[in-house]
Formats: sequence, C-alpha cells, structure tokens
Amino acid sequence: MAELATELNSEWTLRHLTPCIGTEVHGINLADNHSDATIAALSDLLVERKVLFFRDQPISVEAHIVFAARFGELEVHPFTTNDMAHPEVIHLDNDEANPPYINLWHSDVTWRAEPSLGSILRARVVPEVGGDTLFANMEAAYDGLDEATKEQIDGLMAMHDNEGFLAGMKMRGASDEEVEAKRQEFPPSTHPVVRTHPVSGRKSLYVNRAFTRCIVDMDPAESDALLQKLYLQAWIPDYQCRFRWEPDSFAFWDNRAAQHYAAADYWPETRKMERVTIIGDKPY
Ligand code: SIN
Repeated sequence: MAELATELNSEWTLRHLTPCIGTEVHGINLADNHSDATIAALSDLLVERKVLFFRDQPISVEAHIVFAARFGELEVHPFTTNDMAHPEVIHLDNDEANPPYINLWHSDVTWRAEPSLGSILRARVVPEVGGDTLFANMEAAYDGLDEATKEQIDGLMAMHDNEGFLAGMKMRGASDEEVEAKRQEFPPSTHPVVRTHPVSGRKSLYVNRAFTRCIVDMDPAESDALLQKLYLQAWIPDYQCRFRWEPDSFAFWDNRAAQHYAAADYWPETRKMERVTIIGDKPY
C-alpha cells in the first residue's frame, strides 16, 4: 500500500516512524487542490499506516478545513472550545492556568452513535520539549491478544459515554438542567468491543479508557477487569509510535483503528493545537 501511494505520487517521500504505525509524508502541500487520485492514495495510506504526519504546512485555517472535508463530513464538537469563525475547528490550548488532561489513551468521540473516521490535528504553539502525541495500532493490539481472550470478547458490546465532558461543563458553571439537556442530546452509545474496519475488513480493539464505561450485559466487576486488561494493549510499545511536534506539523489519524495519547509532560509550558474531526460510520 505504501508502494501504491508513492507510485501514484512519485514526488512523495514516506518515512515510517515504526514498523507498526505512523508515516511522515514529505513532498505534499496540504493546501493544494488535490486530485481525487491523491486523496484516494492518502486514504489508502492512512488505512495501512493508521496515522500520517506532515511537517512545515503553514496553511490557513480554511485550507485545513478544506483538506479534511475531502475525506468526509466534518463534525462540530458539542463540548470543546470551538473556533468562533470556524465551528468545525476545535482549539486544544493548554498553559499554566489550563493544565492538559488528555493524557489517556482514546479514540475520538466514541460516545457518538457514528464516531469519528479520523482527526486532523495541527500544532500552532509547541513547548521546547515534550507534548508529544503517542499513537497505538489497535489492529495490532487485537492481533496480540491470546486466542482465549479473542474468543471471550468476540460478539461483546461496550457502552461509551461522555460523562467526562459533562463533568467539565458542570465544573465550568453549567446548571444541572443544562448538563442534563446535553446528556439527553448525546446519550451513551454501544459499539462492538472488536470492530471491523469498513475499508480493510481488519479487526481492531474498540474500547478506550476515556469513553468506554462497561461491557453490556456483564457483571460490573467482571466488566471492569476485562476492560482494564484490554486497555493495557494500547500501552505495549511494539504497537506504538510517538510524534514530536513542531509548529505547523499536522497529524491525520484513523480513529477506527488507532488510539492516541497526548503526553502532558510539558506542563506548565504552553501548547496550542487545532483539530478538525471527520465523521465516520456506525461501527460493526
Ligand atoms: C486529541 O486527543 O485529539 C488531541 C491530541 C493532542 O493534543 O496531541
């Protein structure tokens, strides 16, 4: 697949971060008006490598949105700080007064009935050192399970919710009524513990510490124990890569097959990021 991408675009140079996941793509300007063939080649490469990185892309916010929209409909996140002029863009800004909190493995918005296909994150301001993002290949994480566990989780469903965001609303002063209205608008979703990628047909582990609450129809203690064991798969370094940001670096990850973790080691330094999120389909 990587060969296909370079065949289609001989001006690209691909640098894999690890054998398992993550590729830097050099020789592309994200702001160009790309042909359908180029977008298809990037999509194929994304499915194969789970996360693509692009450096030195001093493009406009509008170009970020236009590029992301080539891969699908964009979401407006109902809980985070959205850009005033561009609601599809969320700001993830942290500094001394606003400590980072997404240093936990997750896939984006799995509490939605149709969670994200992929996210495209841009670095605006980065600390001198630290603030890397780590990515884990959840297909490899699934493949690495023993056969008994694979059998145990085959066909199980898990419940995902946004209670963390609701608690954040409450902390910022929202009333109980406002929080309850959001809870009703975005109720929990259930998804298979093992999802099948709609493009590659490959199986991946689709539970995460941020949003998964329990395995449906399982005793709570048993569910907790099983989920803790499954979450730990993302922690195995063999399934990971780690990206060091520079201003105007972009990362494009496949939320259907990868999880990510934003290291909080730089705090109280400043780190400012902008994310555009592409809507996906119902996991099966
Ligand atoms: C995210 O979790 O979407 C953001 C990751 C990051 O800031 O590195």
